[in-house]
Amino acid sequence: MIDRQFTRIQTALPGPKSADVFALKETYVASPLETYAPFIVKQAQGAIIEDLDGNRFLDFSGGWGCLAVGQRHERVVAALREQIDHYLHTDFTAVPYAPFIELAQKLCEHTAIDGPKKAAFFNSGAEAVENAVKIARAYTKRKAVLVFENAFHGRTLLAMTMTHKAKPYKYGFGPFASDVYRLPYPYEYRKSITADDIERSLLSLVDPSEVAVMVVEPVIGEGGFLVPPAWFLPAMRKLADKYGFVLAVDEVQSGVGRTGKFFAYEHFDMQPDLICVAKSLASGLPLSGVVGKAKIMDAPIASAIGGTYAGNPLACRAALEVIRTLDEEDLMAQATRVGHRIKSHFQRLAEKYDVIGDVRGLGAMVGMELVTDRVTKEPAKELTGKIARAAMHNGAIFPTAGLQGNVLRVLVSFVITDEQIDEGMNILEEAFENVLG
Ligand SMILES: Cc1ncc(COP(=O)(O)O)c(C=O)c1O
Repeated sequence: MIDRQFTRIQTALPGPKSADVFALKETYVASPLETYAPFIVKQAQGAIIEDLDGNRFLDFSGGWGCLAVGQRHERVVAALREQIDHYLHTDFTAVPYAPFIELAQKLCEHTAIDGPKKAAFFNSGAEAVENAVKIARAYTKRKAVLVFENAFHGRTLLAMTMTHKAKPYKYGFGPFASDVYRLPYPYEYRKSITADDIERSLLSLVDPSEVAVMVVEPVIGEGGFLVPPAWFLPAMRKLADKYGFVLAVDEVQSGVGRTGKFFAYEHFDMQPDLICVAKSLASGLPLSGVVGKAKIMDAPIASAIGGTYAGNPLACRAALEVIRTLDEEDLMAQATRVGHRIKSHFQRLAEKYDVIGDVRGLGAMVGMELVTDRVTKEPAKELTGKIARAAMHNGAIFPTAGLQGNVLRVLVSFVITDEQIDEGMNILEEAFENVLG
């Protein structure tokens, strides 16, 4: 039995109050907006969510990777309250405001790229990716886009085209954007490749003189938490320099401290030209950005990028507090500690359960890949879903990932305590026990 300090499940899920709201959802919310958790949230703090029926969960999904500093961090809440008392919205390019500019400065200061840097803000991760491509195309005056296997870049037309997984993200939504070419990404557990393999693949797909940009996740997120070997990103830098295209890293999921450094690419011996950032940047408020070399960021003509809500004042104020909190409360080091603790629990479980084929991760981005057989490595998608559901019904939320849906991962807030981690891991272990009998 789990010694429960933080979680409390006192009804079947959904409980009666949540069930009433789900009935309304069924009638009024478009069906493709399928929901993961079988309850409706009432309130949340740190890494804990309480539902309408008084059930309490440990949240290892962290708002799907948006809550580095946890739910309702007091500094973020205070900044938002203060901002509400002044103004809500103007459209930055109509009537500019200081928090947008202060955040651009802060983000540039946190970006480990040599030379002058500039930033621009948008609303979603997909928008950041789209804008990175537009900026790179304006700079290079070329059109082709290189992406990778297992990539996830969002759901708008270009970002969806750049995303690998067909179902559900692309199903029924063609025709897709043109001039997007997919290269192999190292997947150490399943397939070893070399830099030469990637270059050969590039040359077979498109003439490199037509390539505007390569967009790459330094750690693959939705595609299954793949951490590339040390040679990979430096080799991509070399390819970009050799053929004169822009190298953009998509740090929408891996950025803002999640891997223990402000950006994940800092773990590797290279510097990109552009970086896409979102998710944890504004603690769940809609905000994304592109930051990178000033000469590239300045390439599009005046008014060519932007958007009505892009970089809204509330989101910018939240983001400033997120970055200050990461710095002043040493939360990036905490992300590393959280990741180590979770990884050692996962490794312990892997010794006990053969279905865990691989445990991997960087910093607080930790995942386990489930297989039906350790030799054939057949992906165990159904089992992964069952285990995640069993854990949820016992009080811990774990997201899944991977092209085959067979990776269990954590995108937890860095403010989670050791005791909360241990309770969550006991719940996960009990879920394995229950499902595997
Ligand atoms: C690496 C990466 N890029 C882009 C996106 C898209 O972000 P959004 O859902 O905010 O459009 C995501 C979302 O999970 C992501 O993980």
